[in-house]
Amino acid sequence: MKSARRLALTLTLASCGEPAAPIVPPPDEPPIETPDDVPLEVAPLEPDEARMGGATTVFRADPEAFLQPVANITVERKSRFLLGEANFEVDWVPSPSSQRDRDGLGPLFHATSCLACHVGNGRGAPVVGSAQAPAPLLIRLSLPGQDAHGAPIPEPTYGDQFQPRSIAGTPAEGQVQVTYESLPAITLTGTTSVSLQSPSYTLVELGYGPLEPDVRMSPRIAQPMVGLGLLAAIPDATLLAWADPDDRDGDGIRGRPNRVWSVKEGREVLGRFGWKANQPDLEHQAAGALLGDMGLTSPLFLQPACTAAQTRCQEGATGGEPEVDATNLATLSDYSHLIAVPARRGADREDVRMGKAAFLRAGCAGCHRPTTVTGELPGFPELSHQRIWPYTDLLLHDLGEALADGRDDFQATGTEWRTPPLWGLGLTATVNGHTHLLHDGRARSVLEAILWHGGEATASREAVRRMSPRERAALLTFLDSL
Ligand code: HEC
Ligand code: HEC
Repeated sequence: MKSARRLALTLTLASCGEPAAPIVPPPDEPPIETPDDVPLEVAPLEPDEARMGGATTVFRADPEAFLQPVANITVERKSRFLLGEANFEVDWVPSPSSQRDRDGLGPLFHATSCLACHVGNGRGAPVVGSAQAPAPLLIRLSLPGQDAHGAPIPEPTYGDQFQPRSIAGTPAEGQVQVTYESLPAITLTGTTSVSLQSPSYTLVELGYGPLEPDVRMSPRIAQPMVGLGLLAAIPDATLLAWADPDDRDGDGIRGRPNRVWSVKEGREVLGRFGWKANQPDLEHQAAGALLGDMGLTSPLFLQPACTAAQTRCQEGATGGEPEVDATNLATLSDYSHLIAVPARRGADREDVRMGKAAFLRAGCAGCHRPTTVTGELPGFPELSHQRIWPYTDLLLHDLGEALADGRDDFQATGTEWRTPPLWGLGLTATVNGHTHLLHDGRARSVLEAILWHGGEATASREAVRRMSPRERAALLTFLDSL
């Protein structure tokens, strides 16, 4: 055990990306002053703009705002939502156990329930002041290259996800340590200056010997669960029409869909979910989470998440074959589709509409697309043909080296991320008691999240840096109304 403890691997931003990557996103010369007395544009409120999920929208702004079924659900369909909710919240236990339909956890795992990471159906946060990674942060692992289906190649000993916990008798894979370094302050117009904190991740107490030297790792925090069925209902054709991989319109913003392997359909499809659009649909995402996060097999993934080197893991008792049956997997998928988006607060206020104008002027909408209409999603009449306001294009964008994880995920490169939807953003503090953002929760506020933007979003970030304090405050007020 002592020698295993010494086998540690640290990957910092500098070592996992290209050499000589600039870590501080903005240049540090002071921004050009913009006078604060120029009248600000006030954008008009569009019809139904506040009802972000169309007819599915709920009017809640309390700590349970992300736990509601879509508003237009029927009584019969609500019972499916509740069955899925029970499966989402339940703690799985190791087998053998008397709870036959709840066992099979592990042998290697990360958490015992979906809700343990998706707290309140909101977003995870790093634990401030603790070196140990919190439950909602997981580390994806791979070697350079792709398998026959374009998927990342798992690390041979540890697999494709690092598992910090295990059932009795099986060694855990190890622990994740996070440290933050304060970066030089960034100056903004006015008196504000902001110092971002840059994370590095170290895998320690390795239970199965050293990792491959050229392992790639991608730290990712649990994402909010609201409105996902509506995102699933946006037609492929819409995403393809938004894509501009060669920047033909010359606005500096490209955007392309990820293409991932669907096990269910046995073919390549557009990716939509996960921080790199690395999952095709919500059933896959649920089955992937059951296997990768809880060690539970399901009809989509029948093989336990143990590598050839992990013999104790392979010999572990099974909780049925598969451990989660087709019915329970389907309820988890239905539940993930039917969680409602809360309405905006104060969308018609003048300062909020000033912020909306600032959002459009800074080019944020080039990626965070405000609105679209869903298509027909078979099996989900509630979600079909709705005017929605997700503030995403679901496409991959290069956000620069400072945010890069240096790890390919299907067609997403190490610098690319999917534009995250911004609906529900302003309720983060109410639902989760924190304001941490971005794929690994490194940003402590919305302003910090914006200042991390680079790559295709450099011009947007610089526009925010140069805004007068009044305009920037309006922008943040607008974002808080989402
Ligand atoms: C260990 C913590 C953890 C557990 C447990 C967990 N998740 Fe997640 N979830 C995450 C992380 C991290 C992501 C982002 C994954 C990525 O980018 O690859 C995510 C992403 C998702 C998404 C995609 C959201 C989006 O906006 O694209 C869905 C849906 C989801 N999880 C559902 C589930 C379900 C259902 C379960 C239980 C079967 C579950 N999760 C269990 C951490 C967790
Ligand atoms: C070129 C595309 C692009 C542009 C332009 C852009 N963003 Fe983003 N935005 C992204 C991507 C991609 C991420 C995710 C990055 C990550 O997690 O590492 C993101 C993340 C965010 C987040 C954090 C969301 C979350 O769930 O953690 C906020 C807030 C945000 N952007 C606001 C803005 C604002 C405001 C503007 C305009 C000033 C803007 N963005 C411009 C692509 C863009």
